Amino acid sequence: MLAAYTELKNAQKVKNFLVAKKLTHPDYLVVKELGYIYFPIVKKMKVPKAKVVNTKFKFPKKEKHATIDELLKGKLTAKEMKLIPRSLEVVGKIMVLEVPDELKKKEKLIAQAYLKQNHNIETVVKKDKIHSGEFRLRKVKILAGKRSKETIHFENGVKIKLDLEKTYFSARSANERLRIARLVKPKEEVLVMFSGAAPFPLVIAKNSSAKLIYGIEMNSLAHQYALTNVSLNRLDSRVAIFNGDVRDLLPKVRKKFDRISMPLPKTGDQFLGLALKKIKDNGVVHLYDFLSEAEFAVVAKNIREICKKNKKRCRILRKVKCGQFSPSVYRVCFDIKILRK
Ligand SMILES: C[S@@+](CC[C@H](N)C(=O)[O-])C[C@H]1O[C@@H](n2cnc3c(N)ncnc32)[C@H](O)[C@@H]1O
Repeated sequence: MLAAYTELKNAQKVKNFLVAKKLTHPDYLVVKELGYIYFPIVKKMKVPKAKVVNTKFKFPKKEKHATIDELLKGKLTAKEMKLIPRSLEVVGKIMVLEVPDELKKKEKLIAQAYLKQNHNIETVVKKDKIHSGEFRLRKVKILAGKRSKETIHFENGVKIKLDLEKTYFSARSANERLRIARLVKPKEEVLVMFSGAAPFPLVIAKNSSAKLIYGIEMNSLAHQYALTNVSLNRLDSRVAIFNGDVRDLLPKVRKKFDRISMPLPKTGDQFLGLALKKIKDNGVVHLYDFLSEAEFAVVAKNIREICKKNKKRCRILRKVKCGQFSPSVYRVCFDIKILRK
């Protein structure tokens, strides 16, 4: 079989080249032998830092996992096959499906197929109701696998333990959490209002040189997970989490912050006045909302008015689309610099 081989120290460079040129063989795995690595390839071609040879090696075959369509073929009608949920959320070892009503009778069959296909998944659930209420909780129904709604999710270098029904959590916001962490400058003091199971405080602590991060959350069960998570990630010296309503707790907090994150779309703006009392001059507030493009300007105007009412000058640095709520509605973050008066 044709193979490109190189010394182990060049392996990554050669691999990148082969992948970029679509030369890697889809059916076989690499072989490592006596300090060299052999990549099975599909075509003879000059490869920088490697030699191309026709080897007698027996390359191990890649294990092929059946696709979800292959696993369900013959069990669902052609019309039903088209409705199989494809946009999946994975939280730790739990897969969350959105099953359309038309597939209700086949939902367990579909969940079993997903379980069989994904070896890292222990439980498959379906969203029963969307996030609602003050605590933004959702109901899920276990369809297949282990009967547990608690899991540990790995993200941006941290572990987040949570129960899908007891605390809000969205795995899809991982990039946004990292974006905020990367904006944090050394020694910043950061407040996360509405901290939930503490994903924002943890990711910021792990991925920045913030001096300290406060989180405030009023759902006691979410707060318990947050405390567990701070210890689990050994971040106790820089992250402090408080249980209560920000309206009661925040006025009692003596310090002001360089940065305040407000991950409470839909009603977050009602708390902007409160945040403005606790932000340092030239600090930044991250305010989240669910909006269509047409609504961006209206909300920006509202933000400026709230700032004016609170005797603050502000500059909206950027509006970041950081998720999709529905086809035309985005999860949007307004990064707002609060200027010296
Ligand atoms: C959309 S969730 C975000 C949770 C977490 N930051 C995350 O990203 O996973 C909003 C959280 O705010 C909490 N919350 C709502 N109103 C609050 C208030 N007045 N004071 C403190 N927490 C509040 C809810 O219980 C919920 O956990």
